[in-house]
Amino acid sequence: MMDTQTKAKPVADRRSASDGARQVTREELINLLNEDLAREYQAIIGYVIYSQVLKGAEYMAIAAELEKHAAQELQHALIIAKQIDYLGGMPVAVAKPVRTSPRAKEMLQFDLDNENETIRNYRERVRQCESIGEYALAEHIRDILMNEQEHQIDLATALGKDVPQVASPREQA
Ligand SMILES: [Fe+2]
Ligand SMILES: [Fe+2]
Repeated sequence: MMDTQTKAKPVADRRSASDGARQVTREELINLLNEDLAREYQAIIGYVIYSQVLKGAEYMAIAAELEKHAAQELQHALIIAKQIDYLGGMPVAVAKPVRTSPRAKEMLQFDLDNENETIRNYRERVRQCESIGEYALAEHIRDILMNEQEHQIDLATALGKDVPQVASPREQA
């Protein structure tokens, strides 16, 4: 379904004045949030598995932490699904693929990669929501984003790595 604004101006030309981010339509935002929801499902599944199969004394603490992440990802999924419904969309039923590995370090790295991707997307989503005046929605996503950044720190710490820099060049400026 196309709104009149979409017909009036080609998608590529619609830019918000504030930060140069492309302004999305409601329909596009629903689709993007469904991508986010599929990533949340992926996170739930990943954390359910990883938290139970991580073995070894050095991973005891992080395994317990991952179990908490699983519950938090479920809360995120519920919030995102609610927002999709609020926008008049239908929440997706399919998760993004979950990678597993017999090696603990690799599992944690997959997790970290996913969190990085999630954070990149939610940062973009906050800007997109604000550019179309969906400020409350942007706030919900900001709350989730803070939580995802904690997950990222937990995983990077468990892997003995620095927290990855996932901000876009525009954000770093
Ligand atoms: Fe999440
Ligand atoms: Fe997360």
